[in-house]
Amino acid sequence: MSKTETKDAKAATKVEKKVEKKEDKREDKKGDKKEAQKEDKKLKEVEKEEEKRKKKSKEVEVKVEATILPLPPDGQIIETYWIKEPYSRIHIATIPDRGGAYGYFVEEIQLKPEERRSLMKLVDILGKELEPPETSDEDAKMHIVNESRRLMKKYRGALGNISEDSWKKLEYYIERDLLGFGPINSMMLDTKIEDVSCDGVAKPVYVWHRKYESLPSNLTIIDKELFNNFIIKLAHFSGKHVSSAFPIVDAMLPGRHRLAATYGEEISPSGSTFTIRKFREEPYSVVDLIDLGTINERIAAYFWLVLENRLTVMTMGGTGAGKTTLLNALANLFKPGMKIVTVEEIAELNLPHDNWVQFVSRESYGLGQNKIGSISLFDLVRTSLRYRPDYIIVGEIRGEEAFVLFQAMATGHGGLSTLHAENLDYAIKRLTSPPMNVAPAYIQLMNVAAIVERVYLPKQLHGIPFGRRIRHIWELYKYAKTKTIAEWDPVTDTYRVNVEESDLLKELTMRTGRPADAYLEEIARREEVLRWMRAREIRNVRAVAKVITQYYQGARPPPKAEAVQVTPPSLIS
Ligand SMILES: Nc1ncnc2c1ncn2[C@@H]1O[C@H](COP(=O)(O)OP(=O)(O)OP(=O)(O)O)[C@@H](O)[C@H]1O
Ligand SMILES: [Mg+2]
Repeated sequence: MSKTETKDAKAATKVEKKVEKKEDKREDKKGDKKEAQKEDKKLKEVEKEEEKRKKKSKEVEVKVEATILPLPPDGQIIETYWIKEPYSRIHIATIPDRGGAYGYFVEEIQLKPEERRSLMKLVDILGKELEPPETSDEDAKMHIVNESRRLMKKYRGALGNISEDSWKKLEYYIERDLLGFGPINSMMLDTKIEDVSCDGVAKPVYVWHRKYESLPSNLTIIDKELFNNFIIKLAHFSGKHVSSAFPIVDAMLPGRHRLAATYGEEISPSGSTFTIRKFREEPYSVVDLIDLGTINERIAAYFWLVLENRLTVMTMGGTGAGKTTLLNALANLFKPGMKIVTVEEIAELNLPHDNWVQFVSRESYGLGQNKIGSISLFDLVRTSLRYRPDYIIVGEIRGEEAFVLFQAMATGHGGLSTLHAENLDYAIKRLTSPPMNVAPAYIQLMNVAAIVERVYLPKQLHGIPFGRRIRHIWELYKYAKTKTIAEWDPVTDTYRVNVEESDLLKELTMRTGRPADAYLEEIARREEVLRWMRAREIRNVRAVAKVITQYYQGARPPPKAEAVQVTPPSLIS
């Protein structure tokens, strides 16, 4: 036998022995096999449970946490105010790293580690065991708080002993995360904020502050998944769907805030994005706009007469200039009883009138051209004509609905709309080009055009260096002729108003057999009513609408509004 053969033989015997041993062992263990399998199964189940638990606790954490930077130690605090004392407040402070630019710092009450753990567990339990309210009248907030207390008692062992102080903090976070907008809730509750937006993952959430304009906040959402879940939550809040297949959502959030958001990286490489235009619970009335300097009494009185005569008005301007707000405030001036139909993509308009039909377009989730069930603004404007409206208000014209709106205006309906355009020239170009395709001969059917703009003021008003102003008002006539009715002077922050030039009102007055300038007296009278309202701080839209109704019933303010000390019997209910 050669050396190698011996080696091979030895190795073979070794292997054989090993196999034998293994087989022996298998034989030995055969009886315990079932037992082992059972244990294996159990172990796997435990592992699975553990995995699930880990995943869940991560989810809970996701719901509660986002990155919030503290105030920079060397930053200077400019202003501090409470959102919900003593739980949440805002600091406007300088950020040295950004060259001293201002930032918006949300400061919320902090949880101790054990409180955080209890909160995470409680939110988790609530997710599984929350009972629906017994009646639909029950206040959602109270219901969740009561349910939380019930579950807290039930799971006292797991949640630990929660003191009344800690409980108040937990209540704050439960309300913030389950009923509110989670990490951006303080911004949403801050009445000084107009817009909340975020451009992507790991980018700061920005706010648009009434006093300080655009400010980066101390909140950043770093986790991609967290951001995606947040967008899904916002979409669900609005009763809409968002996903990789349908990554754009345009919707109205509870509280009537307007949401535009994108999901994941499908169409926005930096991840999900959102922008929320906050809704004002109490819309600006025409008297508010006079107070803010956006218009003055004479201009408002002019619009009042224009709207009574079913002339058409378009408010124009850039993004966020205040077009919709102006439109809404003008709608305050309608003669009571006028039938109004509003057509919008997102229901932003808020009118105090009873005789008001509100239509909102509907999207469909079909792919490509196959959008079964979608109802466009075009469809709605066409339908609105059957309601025989005195006025059709289209929230914003962008597409083929412009064509129908102008057709409606040509058949004697009043029209009111906003249009995204920085000046009258652009507006006319947009209107006469695809997809709006309004015939140039129809442009004069837009009787009055007003441009509204965000401008810097020569002198601060209410401590704010900028404001919204109607920069220009034109009347439009045949053959592309226009006349300036009012113009804003940026040096003095005043208006040059030329209602005497109004050919439209002259013509309408003459039709009634009165002298051409008789309307000027009416404008002066209405100016006086507006001044009277302002002096008496009647600014709520309903209160303003009431005075307007009384005006049509023959009530008049006293001769000089400034002199109003005694309640004039005619304008008091
Ligand atoms: N005259 C005003 N004075 C003060 N704030 C105003 C005024 N008009 C509008 N705002 C505020 O500005 C924000 C934008 O207003 P609005 O929605 O009317 O603008 P918009 O031009 O219609 O915007 P978009 O282009 O997005 O449709 C709102 O938060 C609103 O409260
Ligand atoms: Mg608008």
